[in-house]
Formats: sequence, C-alpha cells, structure tokens
Amino acid sequence: MLSYRHAFHAGNHADVLKHLILFAVLDYYNRKDKPYWYIDTHAGAGLYDLGGDMAQKVGEYREGIARLRQAQDLPPLAAAFVAHLAAMRLPEHAGGTLYPGSPWWAQSLLRDDDRLRLFERHPQDFALLQQSMRHSRRPRRSVLADGDGFSGLLSLLPPPPRRAVVLMDPPYEQKQDYRKAVETLAAALKKFATGCYLLWYPCLSRAESSGLPDKLRALWPDNYLRAELHVRAPAADGFGMHGSGMWLFNPPYTLAAELENALPALGECLRQDGGGHTVLEYQLR
Ligand SMILES: C[S@@+](CC[C@H](N)C(=O)[O-])C[C@H]1O[C@@H](n2cnc3c(N)ncnc32)[C@H](O)[C@@H]1O
Repeated sequence: MLSYRHAFHAGNHADVLKHLILFAVLDYYNRKDKPYWYIDTHAGAGLYDLGGDMAQKVGEYREGIARLRQAQDLPPLAAAFVAHLAAMRLPEHAGGTLYPGSPWWAQSLLRDDDRLRLFERHPQDFALLQQSMRHSRRPRRSVLADGDGFSGLLSLLPPPPRRAVVLMDPPYEQKQDYRKAVETLAAALKKFATGCYLLWYPCLSRAESSGLPDKLRALWPDNYLRAELHVRAPAADGFGMHGSGMWLFNPPYTLAAELENALPALGECLRQDGGGHTVLEYQLR
C-alpha cells in the first residue's frame, strides 16, 4: 500500500534540514577531482509546485523554505544553500513556484562524470520523476528505477567509481521502514564501507522513532554524524512529528564544523514554539 505523497510536505522544515545537508555533502564531494555516484533510494517526484493543490492544502513550506528565504544574516552554509536554490535553473513554470526535491538538488550539483541512480516506487510519483528529470541538466546521466530502493541500493554496491553518496529517505508510514533502513544500511556498509550514507528520519513520540539513533550508533560507532531539528515540543497527545533528523555514516570531516554554526540558525529560523531545539552529535575517525 503506497499512500504517501511528498507533494503535501514539500519544502517543509524536514526538507530544509535534509536538502541543506545533502547540499553540503555534494559540495564537499565535488572538491575532489574524482567521479562519484549519487544514489537516491526514495527519490519522490523530483519537483514540487508549492502553489499546487497538494502543497497548498496545509502549506507546510510556509514554515520551512519560505521562512529561510526571508531570513537575514545566515551563517555561511545556510546562506550558500539559499543562494544555490535562488540560482537553480528550474523548468519554466507559470507560477514560478517550483521547489526541487532531492534528485533535483543532486542534478544541480553533480559534474559531467558523476552519475545519478534514482529509485521511486509510487507509480504516479515515478511518472512525475521521469518527466521532471527530462528537464534536468543531465537527463542521460540519470538512471531511474520504479522498484524498491532498499534492495535496489544493495544491487548497486560497490559502485564502479568506488565513491558514492547515498540518500535514504523513506516515508516511515509503515513501521517496517525503520527496520528496513537499519538492516539495509548494515548490509550496505558491509558491501561498501567507504560510502557516505545519509538517512532522514522523523522525530516522533513513538518507540520506533526515538530508539532509532541508538540502533544507528551501534551499527557504525566510529564515524557518524547526527543532526536533528526539533521545531516544537512534542504534542501532549503524543501525535505528530515535532522535528526530524539526518544520520550520516562516513560524513565529510568538514560537516560538523559547518553545522555547529548553521544548525542553531536553522533552529532559530524554523522553530514553531518554545520547545524547538537542535541536536548535533558526532564521532569522526
Ligand atoms: C519522503 S519521500 C522522498 C522525498 C525526496 N527524497 C526528496 O527529498 O525530495 C519518500 C518517497 O519514497 C517512495 N517510496 C516508498 N517506499 C519506497 C520503496 N520501498 N522504494 C522506493 N521508493 C519508495 C514514496 O512513494 C515517496 O515518494
């Protein structure tokens, strides 16, 4: 059963955290003159119309990317992220209200010899992804698959250039996504120990979510980074997402210092009540 549609949430605080960290990682990978693969296990539709019915239904982007675009005096990483978004060449669109999903952030940063491998299982979002990637800078350097991104990732490892950035961004509508994410990352690290792996996860008042950091830390304790952006205090009834996190295995060694500045600024900009806070934890080899 596939009911999740990212268009309802595009550009929200969770997208901002995820895409900012993805931006920082790909920027770092571009500093070395050696090609790499970008593998997106849960790619979504690629582009989202923030003026469209789905995004407008709750308007989550208003408390996400819309706030960041208005912010002043941002630290260098956040300012570079906003500037890159403003300069991104998006397809012509009547409202000018398109927001890039992770495949589009990646295609805007990858170089000629780098490659994209994208998985998306929802039939409608897969069709939208195909359509949107036709307008990308490198349509022939992207391979799209309408299958399961967890097993798809393992089938690609180790990648031919022996350098890769992997984004795993499941919807977690089904509890099994928590288990599959951990199991797949464990298997991926066995097949390709030097890859840079990024996992997005929601911060919720339920055991699967709150117990995830301990499981991830135990998996690869020597070289990881955890960044969480809690935009509000957990609801009294325990429902809803009060924040989200990104967990990285083998992060760029520069990222922790960049986030020491950028993450508190994001927290300041995106918090919705006095319970908002950020978490930055890392262990680097
Ligand atoms: C959170 S959205 C992805 C958003 C995207 N990564 C971005 O940042 O723009 C999760 C996507 O995963 C898709 N999906 C769910 N289960 C999947 C699976 N096992 N393999 C591949 N895609 C899956 C959903 O249809 C949905 O489009």
